[in-house]
Amino acid sequence: MNSINRSVSFQLSCLRAFLVISLSGIFFQASAQQPTTYTSFKPGGKWLADDGVHIDCHGGNIIYVDSLRTFYWYGEHRGLPRGASCYSSTDLYNWKNEGVVLDKGEIQIFERPKVIYDEKNRQYVMWFHYDGNGYTIAELGVAVSKSPTGPFIIKDHYRPNGHESRDIGMYIDPETKKAYIGYAADHTNLTIRMVELSDDYLSTTTNDVDIQAHCEGPGILKKNNIFYLLTSQCSGWTPNPASYYTATNIMGPYSNKGNPFIGDAGNNSFNSQPCYIFKIPGYVDAYLYMGDRWNGGGRPDSEYVFLPITITGDGKMELHWYKEWDLSFFTPQRRRPAR
Ligand code: GAL
Repeated sequence: MNSINRSVSFQLSCLRAFLVISLSGIFFQASAQQPTTYTSFKPGGKWLADDGVHIDCHGGNIIYVDSLRTFYWYGEHRGLPRGASCYSSTDLYNWKNEGVVLDKGEIQIFERPKVIYDEKNRQYVMWFHYDGNGYTIAELGVAVSKSPTGPFIIKDHYRPNGHESRDIGMYIDPETKKAYIGYAADHTNLTIRMVELSDDYLSTTTNDVDIQAHCEGPGILKKNNIFYLLTSQCSGWTPNPASYYTATNIMGPYSNKGNPFIGDAGNNSFNSQPCYIFKIPGYVDAYLYMGDRWNGGGRPDSEYVFLPITITGDGKMELHWYKEWDLSFFTPQRRRPAR
């Protein structure tokens, strides 16, 4: 290469570097905004974390770790790298991005992670939907971490007691600390099965029954010794009318009580699909509906519909639409008087 060519090539490299730096600056400005301080929930729409970027944490769950006085929100990280993300908060409105806590690597489909904290063994256990393109592997996966913010290491993946498993929900009994997974099961989610986990939450037991509920996104709560199971129908990323079921035992039998979304004009669960019901500590019967607004596809910018769930005096589950609401919706629990 002669000296003229060398100088032209040097100038082109400088121009290329300049363009890359400027364009990434423009891109960063487009995706990251000034962080906002929130004092309420606004279902749907943009929800920025402390880094000024829309929260990318779909189909997951929230846990509260008492010893750390912190909420952790886990879900699908649909941006790159794909896997599970974690956000932390002390008020449920403002979230700090803790990053990707499990990189899915070679796994083709990684969906609906649910985390539980094992207080006895001081570890965090994540269950998730493990699958291949086409959703035909249909397995449960399990991963473990010593820290709430990962990294989570995958321990196993398999079909529970030989059954297909896709969308999952989780319920932890606050008294017995027993945990259960509700999973959309055989014949491509034709029914939901409920399986009890081992005491260390690391494996499924053979206590595994077809609870004859239909069919995806199961969320579970218990009030007055009645279990309420909230599910969507099966229409991919497109929302549909939900149903809820009740039972006096978590393993059933369950009976279908219809659609709990009140005044839902679009008949589409306020344009959302259930992913979890989180019982907020410190309040009386404060059940938080966590729903995903997929907007036609599982994308990093898919939104969240968080709403309060009401169990009426006569035992019905109801969800009403609120454009904006906050935790004053619930009654704070009375603190025990100091001795
Ligand atoms: C939904 C399911 C999502 C995802 C999607 C793919 O029915 O709830 O988690 O699997 O299908 O189409």
